[in-house]
Amino acid sequence: MSKFWGSRFEKGTSALADKFSFSIAYDHKLALYDVMGSIAHATMLGQCGIISQAESKKIATGLAKIGKKIEQGTFKFDFKEEDIHSNIQTELKKLIGTSADKLHTARSRNDLIVLDMKLYCLYELTMIVNKIAQVQKAIVQFADKNIDVIIPAYTHLQSAQVVLLAHQLLAYVEMLERDKSRLFDALSRMDTMPLGSCALSGTSLPIKREMVAEQLGFPKVTANSIDSVSDRDFIIEALSALAILGMHFSRIAEDMIIWSTQEFNFVNIDWSLCTGSSIMPHKKNPDIMELVRGETATLYANLNKLLILTKALPLTYNRDLQLDKPPLFESVEKVGDMLGLFTALFNTLKVNKDVIKAKINNESFFTVDIMDYLIKKGVSYREAHDIVGKMVKECLDKGNSIKNFSKSDLKKYSLKFEIDVKKLLDPQVSVKNKKSFGSTNPDLVKKQINKWKKSLNVRI
Ligand code: ARG
Repeated sequence: MSKFWGSRFEKGTSALADKFSFSIAYDHKLALYDVMGSIAHATMLGQCGIISQAESKKIATGLAKIGKKIEQGTFKFDFKEEDIHSNIQTELKKLIGTSADKLHTARSRNDLIVLDMKLYCLYELTMIVNKIAQVQKAIVQFADKNIDVIIPAYTHLQSAQVVLLAHQLLAYVEMLERDKSRLFDALSRMDTMPLGSCALSGTSLPIKREMVAEQLGFPKVTANSIDSVSDRDFIIEALSALAILGMHFSRIAEDMIIWSTQEFNFVNIDWSLCTGSSIMPHKKNPDIMELVRGETATLYANLNKLLILTKALPLTYNRDLQLDKPPLFESVEKVGDMLGLFTALFNTLKVNKDVIKAKINNESFFTVDIMDYLIKKGVSYREAHDIVGKMVKECLDKGNSIKNFSKSDLKKYSLKFEIDVKKLLDPQVSVKNKKSFGSTNPDLVKKQINKWKKSLNVRI
């Protein structure tokens, strides 16, 4: 076991203190990023003449070997080492000898850990953006396949109006698009290279930070060494974007849970995403959707954890910051799983068209269409609302329906009514009559589907 410090210590740390403070159990996830950053750093040290070219090469070659092993999964992490940095450094020393001791020149773990975390976020969040696009594709394909389906839509979970199923599905696609843009936004802000800030003040050694940035693909270096080692905004922004994404998924999951109940029976969730009951043989439970709803709590908690961890923390680095890792890693993993599950959900979801058709055979879905009819004939909004309200009341009180009203029945409510108003009691007519941009009008929805197909590269 080797530590980066200790020469001035009168005795070693206690076993309990080690257990409490070691981060290798989780920061081993950063191994490849640590190696990548170190190769870039050693190369720069050589080019700037801070270490010899020969030593720089030796270090880089040794690190590359370690990197290979990590990639292949054959690298043996030593859980008696404090953290990922000392793990790699110790292994490097075993491989190349004392030249390894020069790797840590002009850097500190304080700037190195920020570099590792930024590289991790840049990679993982980009993967998440790609996976969101996969879910969007699956939704758009599912919408396209069911373009003829009209469903009841709800406010207050009470039947409201009819819409195309595709229209509701494209709402999900819009939500996910905003999630992608939030992640892009976070990615662009975190894309600055912190290494060379050292402990907190920079260094007197003639390093070239831009050289490291360029090798690692960062467009620029951080401008303030104090901020560089203190900043965890990028993790908070990532967790915030993931928490909002989770919120979206929990709402979609809730729609699926409701739609798949015996009472609604609009959709069948594939068996592969459901479980049974140990006591009630008839049950098919939407557990995966319920767990998505539940794990959203984890995503919120992880965001909160980082906000609490950093609140009133004095600049610059404090060891508390080590605890930023488990919440971030957990949220990234949970969201990755959720994205895979939602792609599978929409690739396999079945729509019960007949059930839905029977549900929308209900005049109350068309009251706003009747109001619009009157408004187009010059009746005020208020008056139209009253007229249609009275019609609904009479139907409910007397067990009647508007479709049975005669011409004179209609005239009792408003002289503006002609018999053609009854044509409005039809789901197809209702959606077609919508004209405003962003509405459920089938032509407009088809246009939106085509727009998404193009931008998401969906095979047509
Ligand atoms: N394991 C630490 C972390 O994750 C690395 C930095 C430690 N720096 C220090 N000065 N003790 O934050």
